[in-house]
Amino acid sequence: MRSAWICLSQNAHILYLIFCLYHYTQAITIQVSGNAVTAPVQGSALFSVDITCIGTPAVRWVFSSVSRQQRIASWILGGSANVTQMYKGRVQTHPNGSLTLSNLRLQDSGYYIITVTETSGNSQDMGLVLSVTEVLHEDMPFLVVFVIALATLAAFLMLCMWLWNKLYRLIQAWVQRRCLPEHTETELQPL
Ligand SMILES: *[C@@H]1O[C@H](CO)[C@@H](O)[C@H](O)[C@H]1NC(C)=O
Ligand SMILES: *[C@@H]1O[C@H](CO)[C@@H](O)[C@H](O)[C@H]1NC(C)=O
Repeated sequence: MRSAWICLSQNAHILYLIFCLYHYTQAITIQVSGNAVTAPVQGSALFSVDITCIGTPAVRWVFSSVSRQQRIASWILGGSANVTQMYKGRVQTHPNGSLTLSNLRLQDSGYYIITVTETSGNSQDMGLVLSVTEVLHEDMPFLVVFVIALATLAAFLMLCMWLWNKLYRLIQAWVQRRCLPEHTETELQPL
């Protein structure tokens, strides 16, 4: 009886070991080169993932921020992706499970969660953070150019006014000089 129990216990141990080994080989790994992605407004961001698992998994990308949660796309690796209407045209899905989001807006900042599900039902999540930054340095030269153009225009207008003033006085002096000899003649006549 006792030896039978030991035998059963040993069998359980072996079963447990097999289970562990099975579970270990079944484990899905999602590797990312970095958990944080930074991209400018209007730019694009690549969420690059390297998936290792058994069989052909299903991949699903979900956006999550403080205010909302939104499914972006889901597809079975190798198949065509089902992209949510509001992301159509902005999303590119890659055969390796990666995702590219283009024409970025400030509201796109937040968490991007990938869920990989094997055919057996096992699944694994991985989150990446996207920060969309405003491009101030690109607007700055425009502002500087605008101010310089305005200052140049003002200087040009001032120069024009000054020249006009000079010309007016010159004309006035010329007219006066033309009138003066006659005037002096008539003035001199009585003498
Ligand atoms: C996944 O595929 C995309 C597009 O081909 C590529 O840019 C990216 O580097 C790939 N990622 C990995 C981890 O291989
Ligand atoms: C795409 O996903 C949506 C939401 O999960 C679903 O209603 C729709 O039927 C799917 N379309 C296809 C072609 O699988």
